[in-house]
Amino acid sequence: MSLAVVTLAAGKGSRMKSPLPKVLHTLAGKPMLGHVLAAASALPEAAQHVVIGHGAEQVKAMFADSGVTWALQSEQKGTGHAVAQALPAIADTAVVLVLYGDVPLIRTETLEKLTAIAASGALGLLTVTLEDPAGYGRIIRNSNGAVQAIVEHKDATEAQRAVQEVNTGIMAVPAALLKKWLPLLSADNAQGEYYLTDIIAMAVADGVVVEALQPASASEVEGVNDRIQLARLERIYQAQLAEALMAGGVALADPARLDIRGTLTCGQDVFIDVGCIFEGDVVLEDGVRIGAYNVVRNSRIGAGVEVESFCHIEDARVAAAASVGPYARLRPGADLAEGARVGNFCEVKKSVIGRGSKVNHLTYIGDAVIGEGANIGAGTITCNYDGVNKFRTEIGDGAFIGSNSSLVAPVSVGAGATVAAGSVVTKDVADGELAVARGKQRNISGWQRPVKD
Ligand code: UD1
Ligand code: CA
Repeated sequence: MSLAVVTLAAGKGSRMKSPLPKVLHTLAGKPMLGHVLAAASALPEAAQHVVIGHGAEQVKAMFADSGVTWALQSEQKGTGHAVAQALPAIADTAVVLVLYGDVPLIRTETLEKLTAIAASGALGLLTVTLEDPAGYGRIIRNSNGAVQAIVEHKDATEAQRAVQEVNTGIMAVPAALLKKWLPLLSADNAQGEYYLTDIIAMAVADGVVVEALQPASASEVEGVNDRIQLARLERIYQAQLAEALMAGGVALADPARLDIRGTLTCGQDVFIDVGCIFEGDVVLEDGVRIGAYNVVRNSRIGAGVEVESFCHIEDARVAAAASVGPYARLRPGADLAEGARVGNFCEVKKSVIGRGSKVNHLTYIGDAVIGEGANIGAGTITCNYDGVNKFRTEIGDGAFIGSNSSLVAPVSVGAGATVAAGSVVTKDVADGELAVARGKQRNISGWQRPVKD
């Protein structure tokens, strides 16, 4: 069986009140459509088709490298019409799985079961039972419990509206049957649309078995029409991620105060305090402790590292037993060796901080290589930029940079060298030398301060 996944994403999403097409709004940092495609791509041999309309160019551009076959539905004439736009590119022998770009939490396991039904020649339909079914298509069953039809809310009688089992819209159907049924749809209904749901009655009339299946959780089939629903699903999804982390042995101070927008991989005995955000691919090795209110993006934090509160860490590597923060910023290319320390109000960019070296207070280190066991005093600045070009600073093992020094790159300070506090270093300092580069102190005795008249 080949599988053709058809994801509908042509709708406008006007209730988002946004120029961005609805399916590009993000959940856990990823467009909703991306979640749907990811769930479907885990199915064996899945070819992805996406029906686009509103914001088609923007959607295509965002998923340019995804291998999706696009079908344009320039006018939204209903879900049946939408699926029909994708059919010409699909073989008769395929199974078609219909998904929705605004139903982001659907799980692969559920889709596997549904496609298995269609692979046997039946129609697999995903339904849920809701406390309040208003607005949804109702599942109409006969006295034997067999599904007979779906009736849209607007077309339903009072008795039909009492039915609480509703259509999620997600279904799996043999392509040959869809190709037979879709041209037979009529728009003669309350909304004047070609309803995909009308194929259920056609299946029954043709003696095709309709098998209804329920998802493990109702959140899998919840759609997003506005930002309130999107935020609700975000919380549900984040809770699932937090539970998976805890099940894997991670200690979370509060599973409700953690956001993961990407992949967070943790070793043993990792602790994460409240208010942290992890983006992209982040690895926290064994025993890492992340303090409160940290943002960590695409970084690897080594075993036993403590990241104290309020740090911003991006595209950085922190080796084992190093310490970071509070209030540190590690920018792309920051590379802290084992046991290095970067403390409060320090910024490090594209620089190596050698083993055991300390950059503890109010410092900017950019385009620098610092050796082992060096001490960078408070307020040290690597002047790496002349307004056009960037230059490197090298600081040797065991060097001591006095407070409030400016190191004007390109410049090097040798191993064991010392820079006196308040220096502006423009010339290389050899190993073991002391550089003093500041105005000489002059004391004037008998000095009278000005006085007010
Ligand atoms: C649809 C189902 C309904 C089900 C509900 C679940 C139909 C006729 N009804 O109703 O039984 O309970 O979903 O949420 O199928 N879309 C297009 N092109 C179109 C029309 C829709 O791409 O021409 C897309 C929309 O962007 C949306 C999805 O299909 O993502 C559902 O369309 P919508 O009009 O919201 O269907 P409902 O009225 O909610
Ligand atoms: Ca809808």
